[in-house]
Amino acid sequence: MKTSVTMILAAALAAAAFGCTQFGGVATLRGADTAAADQAPVENKVYVGKKPGLQKPIDRTFSTQPPLVPHAVDNFDEITVAENQCMECHSLDSYQKKNAPRLGDSHLDAGKKMVTMDRYQCNTCHVPQVDAKPLVENTFVGHMPKK
Ligand code: HEC
Ligand code: HEC
Repeated sequence: MKTSVTMILAAALAAAAFGCTQFGGVATLRGADTAAADQAPVENKVYVGKKPGLQKPIDRTFSTQPPLVPHAVDNFDEITVAENQCMECHSLDSYQKKNAPRLGDSHLDAGKKMVTMDRYQCNTCHVPQVDAKPLVENTFVGHMPKK
């Protein structure tokens, strides 16, 4: 009995040691520990500090794509139930004054007055993005139906 327990322990130790040498040298694509904060590549920072109104909207690649944000978003306050800075320019009341694109009808309730709760957290769908080098090969080809 005692010998078999020792043998199982020895096998487990050997397996663990083998595992470590096998996978110890695996490198992450983003080059950082999973627990560490993301380090965005320099080319992903082109919108930093670029105020709304200075850039053209980025072309969409497919019809149901949430359009990408063509301006800085990192200097805005966090979106809460009481406060949403995106609405200062994109809401029905302000888009004309601010010369900003009006948010889509799909974002509004049946009365077309209020933004529905599933569309309130704008940055779950709308993100700033740039034409950066892909980390892995990507063969995606956009398809935007002609208007
Ligand atoms: C100070 C006004 C202002 C604020 C605040 C603002 N935007 Fe914008 N946004 C604009 C303007 C103006 C444009 C048109 C492109 C440009 O000129 O930058 C735009 C463009 C966009 C577009 C592209 C629309 C399209 O049709 O391609 C998206 C998406 C967007 N903003 C999302 C956001 C989100 C999300 C927030 C909040 C985090 C936000 N915006 C806050 C003014 C603003
Ligand atoms: C669940 C995903 C989602 C959320 C959340 C969301 N959007 Fe959108 N948005 C979209 C999609 C998809 C489109 C493309 C056209 C459409 O479906 O209305 C769009 C379109 C837009 C447009 C361009 C208008 C047009 O007619 O194409 C603006 C501006 C915009 N959204 C702003 C916002 C703002 C501001 C918020 C937060 C109050 C927000 N969106 C929240 C998905 C989202």
